[in-house]
Amino acid sequence: MRAHDPNSPARPTPGGTGKDATPPRPAREFRFDDRDFERIRRLIYAHAGISLNDSKRDMVYGRVTRRLRALGLKSFAEYLQQLETDELEFEEFVNSLTTNLTAFFREEHHFPILAELLRKHAENGPVSLWSAACSTGEEAYSMAITAIETLGANPRVRILGTDLDTRAVRTADLGIYPLERVEKLGEERLKRFFLKGTGDKAGYARVRPEVRALVRFRPMNLMTPVWPIRGPFHAIFCRNAMIYFDRAAQRRVLERFRPLLHPDGRLFAGHAEGLAHCADLFEPERRTVYRPVADASR
Ligand SMILES: C[S@@+](CC[C@H](N)C(=O)[O-])C[C@H]1O[C@@H](n2cnc3c(N)ncnc32)[C@H](O)[C@@H]1O
Repeated sequence: MRAHDPNSPARPTPGGTGKDATPPRPAREFRFDDRDFERIRRLIYAHAGISLNDSKRDMVYGRVTRRLRALGLKSFAEYLQQLETDELEFEEFVNSLTTNLTAFFREEHHFPILAELLRKHAENGPVSLWSAACSTGEEAYSMAITAIETLGANPRVRILGTDLDTRAVRTADLGIYPLERVEKLGEERLKRFFLKGTGDKAGYARVRPEVRALVRFRPMNLMTPVWPIRGPFHAIFCRNAMIYFDRAAQRRVLERFRPLLHPDGRLFAGHAEGLAHCADLFEPERRTVYRPVADASR
């Protein structure tokens, strides 16, 4: 993945946001004390539900100092003050603290289960899927590829990809990835679903228009009081995002997923995201795949 220059204007980087591989910094360029860390921790939790424990202190320092440098600021205090009034910079601040690690067909065992669901629901009309923390788009495009492989060309399937990180969503929207991230899919899928770049686009692959057409991307924070989204979805993928939330925030999200899921739909979670504390909302069906529990109050 090509690293994104944090000093450049907001611009999507093909295939990544360029911040997950932050190298450790030996000496500190800026003073960063407990109060600064605490303020950042509170801000990101209140806005995005992301819980940062003490072990994340160096990561926070590394990510946020890039913003200080980009803006030519001298201290965290100055930066935190700017965040109070500068909405655009607040967006960059949030983007800098998300972790976007993802891959095509990550947690591969989910995709044959998705294929089964697609076959079943496609008999009754269009199928709706949601990648609810889509990062740079690989998950949503993997869902689209599964849909074409399962139902044939031009399937009646619509996929929504949303994420808090506006840069990640712009990258997803581009649908252009470094070849090495796509090659793992194998020669056949690469040929069928991607166009290899040539000339100055050599080394990159673009998702083919017929795959792209099945997916639309939008920025969306799972913590906002209103979700501009209408269900029902036959599958919601919310993988490897809830792991950053505490249990209270996870529950708030899961309470809102349930009414948006088709009664015979499925929720797909990440490998480290046990939902046992929300067993009244979702019951496990297979490894990290959940069925909604009928809402007795409705
Ligand atoms: C590690 S990536 C997971 C991507 C993909 N779902 C996967 O499993 O490969 C986590 C994503 O969750 C997103 N995220 C974190 N908090 C969020 C929130 N409050 N609302 C929406 N997305 C959020 C981050 O921006 C990041 O792109």
